[in-house]
Amino acid sequence: MPTPTRAPLLIVVMGVSGAGKTTVGRLLAVHLHCPFADADDLHAPASLEKMRRGQPLSDEDRQPWLARVAEKIDDWRRQGQAGVITCSALKRSYRDVIRGGRDDVTFVYLQGAKAAIADRLAVRSGHFMPDQLLASQFEILEEPAPNERAIWVPISGAPQEIVAAILTGLKERRMAQAPSTTIADDPQALARALADWFVETLETKSGRIVVAVAGGSTPKAFYHCLATPPYQARLPWERIHWFFGDERFVPPTSPASNYRMFAEAIEAARFIPPENLHPVPTDAASAAQAAARYAGELQAFYGSDHLDPSQPFFDVTLLGLGTDGHTASLFPGSPALDERHAWAWPSMAPDGSDRITLTYPLLESSRETVFLVAGADKRPILARVLSHDQALPAARLRPSGTVRLFADRAAFDGPPD
Ligand code: 6PG
Repeated sequence: MPTPTRAPLLIVVMGVSGAGKTTVGRLLAVHLHCPFADADDLHAPASLEKMRRGQPLSDEDRQPWLARVAEKIDDWRRQGQAGVITCSALKRSYRDVIRGGRDDVTFVYLQGAKAAIADRLAVRSGHFMPDQLLASQFEILEEPAPNERAIWVPISGAPQEIVAAILTGLKERRMAQAPSTTIADDPQALARALADWFVETLETKSGRIVVAVAGGSTPKAFYHCLATPPYQARLPWERIHWFFGDERFVPPTSPASNYRMFAEAIEAARFIPPENLHPVPTDAASAAQAAARYAGELQAFYGSDHLDPSQPFFDVTLLGLGTDGHTASLFPGSPALDERHAWAWPSMAPDGSDRITLTYPLLESSRETVFLVAGADKRPILARVLSHDQALPAARLRPSGTVRLFADRAAFDGPPD
């Protein structure tokens, strides 16, 4: 297993012409000891000519250029190399091309008022972009949306100050991405620590509570804990609904069934009203059909087939971690990783067995997301996940709410340096 490496910093300094992208980008690359590239150098000669004539580029003109910018970033990514590139990236759709479906690219938006930038352009010389094109840039400018998680920096300061603000933003982002972590001495202590947190968290909630159950073996002790004093008496069983993050395509009576593991460990028959238990319908003819039926049940329960960011589906999502970096049944290389519309999808485990998994959009629709990880065999992969290694399905999850890690000492190698 290679030593865990931190995901490379891939930064796009964006903004209208004259915002100072090149000056700031170069300086930032110096501070980060990484290569710098300027997307102006990636324009086709015809585009440069068109701009020189004072004609704004169209979306069509920009597509091949944006693809070249994405390619540049992909080169760095493949080499595990950080890099800074400047690119106006004025529209959300342009930035999506640059991201290429990955979200390890950080956009830094140099924000400035039109008048201030016009003044700068008036004194700028030797640049191919004529001043009069500034208006067309502001016309199409779509400032980054909140879920783009861009770092916004006003252009009023000196370049050094702007770079300092960017470095602070990057640091805060890294800290924000680190999950709040609880480490227990052993699996039993881990189960109790999670049960304490779980009960305290649910006691703060009124109304219906929705939980996504994790499968595998690690959570079994935790589920069992919930069925024992003092936890059992403190849980609002009648208000909790239990769905499954994934399931093996086997009957609920099978020893491989996550439903069976959960129901036995938590003594569902004693404590959970039957209508509050929502197993994956593995009596379907195929895993694909089971996934489609489950998606329908989930949408009926939610009351819509569209996830509202202000109404996360789950209050708590419990997830495990496989030694290959999978979580739920989102395995490396699985087509299920790219499914952004359906809420449940068939997948195949490395042993060839059929699975049904909730997809990223639904798993991410959660107020609290808890990774539960135990055992020395998980140590290398957990370190890679904590270093945001984007090759790992578990590291690519972007929950809308808080992320927590409950791990035992055997699995936890300490926070990434
Ligand atoms: C499953 C799980 C899976 C599990 C990991 C870890 O159905 O197997 O949902 O994602 O959480 O494989 O499994 P262990 O806890 O058994 O190590």
